Amino acid sequence: MSILKGKDILRSDLLTNEELELIVCTAARFESVLRSGGSLHNMANLILATLFFEPSTRTRLSFETAMHRLGGQVITVADPKTSSAAKGESLADSMRTVEGYADVIVIRHPQKGSAEEAAQAVSIPVINAGDGTGQHPTQALLDVYTIQKEKGSLEGLTVALAGDLKNGRTVHSLSYLLARFGNRLILVSPRSLEMPPEIVDALRREGADVTVESDLAVAMRQSDVVYVTRIQRERFEDQDEYRRLKGAYVVDMSMIGQAKTGIIIMHPLPRVDEIAIEVDQHAGAAYFRQAANGVPIRMALLALVTGRE
Ligand code: CP
Repeated sequence: MSILKGKDILRSDLLTNEELELIVCTAARFESVLRSGGSLHNMANLILATLFFEPSTRTRLSFETAMHRLGGQVITVADPKTSSAAKGESLADSMRTVEGYADVIVIRHPQKGSAEEAAQAVSIPVINAGDGTGQHPTQALLDVYTIQKEKGSLEGLTVALAGDLKNGRTVHSLSYLLARFGNRLILVSPRSLEMPPEIVDALRREGADVTVESDLAVAMRQSDVVYVTRIQRERFEDQDEYRRLKGAYVVDMSMIGQAKTGIIIMHPLPRVDEIAIEVDQHAGAAYFRQAANGVPIRMALLALVTGRE
């Protein structure tokens, strides 16, 4: 039986190394079947509920694709205005209702900590697809899967995390996973958007080599991977402040020309203007391959938490 059967996936730092390895190996196995033209029916007769109280393209659609690829079915709330949350229903009541319809729930919600609250309300597995400025653990899993595929290893790399490190939940989740494998992290952000100190402290307590650098070009000269994030406009109370910081870091071909040879460029997407369009043609531009890797990783997660791996 899977060590993840019946478990919730709420935060990357709660995953054990054994669980992480199982997820990555299961994703690789599923991806290999799909690449060879095979079909899978692991999730036959099971239903996934995707409840998205914040916008999404990649996360919702890749979870739904993953479920379809495994022969399962999907019910969805893609627009919270069409759910009874708009009438004031509590998250716990919504979850207890959906538990009666589905076998596993994927939830995205603007409130940090909401995935934990949702999981406490039900006994079926709950997967956090982004809880406000908290975490986005399934993105981090597809990110490490991408790094392993692109660089051939997850260990001993220097990774620059750049952009809105305060509000960007993807970098919160990813930094915990990268730190486990002896990677060096360079944090690049405007002062007001630095990585939350409690996360930096936790990474350093685990022995991670974490440095802070304000100049992205300097960081890229030392890095095997640059992971760029969007300045999160929706998290700003002061839109003038957002406009001032927007465009603080833009990766273009002149920066890549001065970067370490073989650097890969990653981004959880959506991109606004953090990576120039010209970079898309560069062999190291991994962000659309990264988005595609969401399907095998989410197939693995759905199968493992339901015991259908
Ligand atoms: N990376 C990511 O979470 O993208 P979406 O917001 O489109 O789901």
